[in-house]
Amino acid sequence: MTATLDLSAIELKDPDVYLHGVPHESFRLLREHDPVHWHPETEPDPGFWAITKHADVVAISKDAQRFSSAERFIYYEEIPADAMEMRRSMIETDPPEHTRLRRIVSPLFTPKTVDAYRAHTRAVADRLLDNALAKGEFDWVHDICEMMPIRVFVDVFGAPESDADYLAKLANMLVAIDDPDLAPPPEMYEHARARGYEEHQLPFNSPAALYLFDYARELCEARRQDPQDDLITRLVSAEWEGERLTDSELVNFCQLLVFAGNETTRNSLATGMHQCILQPEQLDLLEADRGLMKGAVEEILRWATPIYTFRRTATEDVELRGKQIKQGDKLMMYYISANYDEEVFADPQRFDVTRDASAQVVFGGGGPHYCLGAFLARMQVETLFTAVLDRGLRFEVCGPTARLRSNFGNGFKTMPVRAVAGR
Ligand code: HEM
Repeated sequence: MTATLDLSAIELKDPDVYLHGVPHESFRLLREHDPVHWHPETEPDPGFWAITKHADVVAISKDAQRFSSAERFIYYEEIPADAMEMRRSMIETDPPEHTRLRRIVSPLFTPKTVDAYRAHTRAVADRLLDNALAKGEFDWVHDICEMMPIRVFVDVFGAPESDADYLAKLANMLVAIDDPDLAPPPEMYEHARARGYEEHQLPFNSPAALYLFDYARELCEARRQDPQDDLITRLVSAEWEGERLTDSELVNFCQLLVFAGNETTRNSLATGMHQCILQPEQLDLLEADRGLMKGAVEEILRWATPIYTFRRTATEDVELRGKQIKQGDKLMMYYISANYDEEVFADPQRFDVTRDASAQVVFGGGGPHYCLGAFLARMQVETLFTAVLDRGLRFEVCGPTARLRSNFGNGFKTMPVRAVAGR
């Protein structure tokens, strides 16, 4: 006798669900039995469509006309329209507004531009590894992964390196809003209220965004007065068809960069190394054939999938796999599920640096919002793993690890390690 399958019990929004690992079995069941699944929410939110197949994530991502990023927020929450206007950054716009913004900023993130940051990134990786190894036991997340992307960023921004820790802390508070260990302290909320902002008006509901805005505003002003060879200088003077970014677009964009580029990259470095610790033969394979590195970066990213999901809102009634999606409905695209879709990745629960993982949708499923920082992120993963291999390093976990309590960011917040002899 086969038991009836009750998919209504599957919970995907509660951050606790992700605390001890990705709920892969729930996603697998949905992919197999109900890939466009109606997931109820608690009042007043009616619920959302959970999109779990790779092909659907790609199709929705590429169809900005029917699946909008601007209509509502790009995450689970509903946000009042006036607050949405205050906090809107490029990722929350649709074409043609999005096209204008994207054309202004995309020349700053081409593979060629990113290559110029490679030597600095390697120097950062080497310095962090030296310092960490000198300690004997250290925290791979805190001492390496948390430190690296923000140090690369301050270089890209043209900000002083001494600001890196401050920015890293703010970035944490943007993403880890649901984790009591990392969430902003009460005085930051008071500061926001004193300036006339309620929580829901702030990007990602975090008062840290205000501090980032202030920081970006000052840096932009400084570069207007005294141009340098850096991203902020290029950003304040970037033009497309005679148009420049407005002041509010500028600070929102800087905030988006810190938010989008920091935690995500860090989590791919952390989860990637964690898996290589569990499967050291994967590092041996890479060491023996460095030609595998580019492909390995794709597999590390697929495996890590640092952002679980983003949302779109239907602009018209649409039928998808036989389900009637109504205008205004919320669709959550689960990149984490698409990246483990057995129709695209054979034996998806196998981490294998030799597989072709280039179809991963870590950076989105294509379309207008495809991650602007994809080359920068890939370059950092490649650089850190290359630095580890160049030293012949292998690690072991030497204490309890802890994962983020988040329904957004997939990663670790602590991972104590020590170096062990390689092969
Ligand atoms: C492994 C690291 C990263 C991951 C997993 C990631 C993931 C994503 C995803 C899923 C999107 C949305 C795609 C969509 O809606 O279709 C996105 C957009 C974006 N990402 Fe990343 N990202 C990463 C690194 C970075 C970095 C390093 C930067 C900094 C330059 C960055 C900047 C952005 C920006 C500005 C957008 C909005 C693009 C737009 O709306 O046109 N990301 N990213």
